[in-house]
Amino acid sequence: MALWGGRFSQDPQADVARLSESISFDKRLYRHDIMGSKAHVAMLAKQGIIPEATALAIRAELDEICKRIEAGDFKYDIAMEDIHMHIESALIGKLGAEGARVHSARSRNDQVALDIRLYLRDAVDGLIAGLREFQKALVDRAAADPEAILPGFTHLQHAQVVLFAHHLLAYVEMFDRDAERLADCRKRLNVMPLGSGALAGSTLPIDRQAVCDELQFDRITRNSMDAVADRDFAIELLSALAIFGVHVSRLSEDIVLWSSQEFGFIELGDAFCTGSSLMPQKKNPDVAELSRGKCARLCGDLMSLLTLCKGLPLTYNRDLQEDKEQIFDALDTAELILKVYPPMIGSMEIRADRMREAAADPALMATDLAEELVKLGVPFRDAHHRVGAFVKYCKDKNVALDQVPLEEMQLTIPEATPVFLELFSPEKSVAKRDIPGGTGYAQVASQIARWQKVLSETI
Ligand code: ARG
Repeated sequence: MALWGGRFSQDPQADVARLSESISFDKRLYRHDIMGSKAHVAMLAKQGIIPEATALAIRAELDEICKRIEAGDFKYDIAMEDIHMHIESALIGKLGAEGARVHSARSRNDQVALDIRLYLRDAVDGLIAGLREFQKALVDRAAADPEAILPGFTHLQHAQVVLFAHHLLAYVEMFDRDAERLADCRKRLNVMPLGSGALAGSTLPIDRQAVCDELQFDRITRNSMDAVADRDFAIELLSALAIFGVHVSRLSEDIVLWSSQEFGFIELGDAFCTGSSLMPQKKNPDVAELSRGKCARLCGDLMSLLTLCKGLPLTYNRDLQEDKEQIFDALDTAELILKVYPPMIGSMEIRADRMREAAADPALMATDLAEELVKLGVPFRDAHHRVGAFVKYCKDKNVALDQVPLEEMQLTIPEATPVFLELFSPEKSVAKRDIPGGTGYAQVASQIARWQKVLSETI
């Protein structure tokens, strides 16, 4: 008979038990469940709700149960539904009436809210650490080739030349915001819900603040109904992870493109690629492709959780049990990406010659010509128009922009001076973008130094 079975005369039908159970996925909450129960019974004893000796016996037995679970010596049974029931019934099995006191002033509703918050707090700390390693791998890669130049793209068309390091540092910025979002979400999840009971608190004289202090939460929840019904801390986390997934998918796409034969800008280490079962010559960037693909799961997990919570009346509803698989899937997915990606970035070799060759396309410097005209006092829109006409002239004559003598250039750009003929150097183009946030050598070098310092202080 289930622990809640007092008013029942039948066990759940077999398929109902399969529908009800969550032990198959919530067993991973065991450590946090035990941590919460230990703090709870210590408080119950301090408040005189249970005897001190009982609290000591329960705490010791909870440690034993923890060891048994970790040793793989703990029996799971779907009839016992979830991790909370498994641990409580193991306690009662061992301690009898003493163990039966553990659930005083507690419901599984506030218990599971506590467990998830404890679990996610640890998970978020791990994710932030993983993001820092990811950033470090990118900064190291940028620092290894600080002067490599490649074409920057808009609309996947050649746009202007940029430093490869600048391109990588763009992702460092994105992952920094991801880490900030996680840290922000941690503030709201680090609030202690136990003592909210099923929904209305307890008539017993509990000390919620003591449990809060013991478990190192920032504060206790202020409304028992909110505390058992709320999952928005998890929605926030999954939203931060979905955004992270989108960032990873974009980096992955750059890597897939760069490692194609057409670009040929990079080569990834063999350990991070796979071959084809048919074509012997193939070396595919599967890690990048799969990470791009796994972004779909991260977005899907967020959508599932949002949909799960939509329209639920207060307070706890059993639907909420379905939050865990999405939460765990998102965490597992993000953790795996964070494990694999940094060493893959470390394995990346670049073909600076191929990048430079692509960056030598003089059309990439067309904007520089227009800006040179602005320096001579020509209004930008007119300058843009003149250079546009020059580009068309070159295209019609099938000649590269940097192969046109000055007098011919002056047909479309009357103000052009000999200086204009010097503007087609990718190196000069980069060097002149010496403004904060720009791709100039000095700017990028100082950003690399900044990130190295920031990361050495956080890792
Ligand atoms: N396994 C449940 C969950 O994850 C615990 C709470 C169950 N509460 C209840 N009254 N049935 O949500």
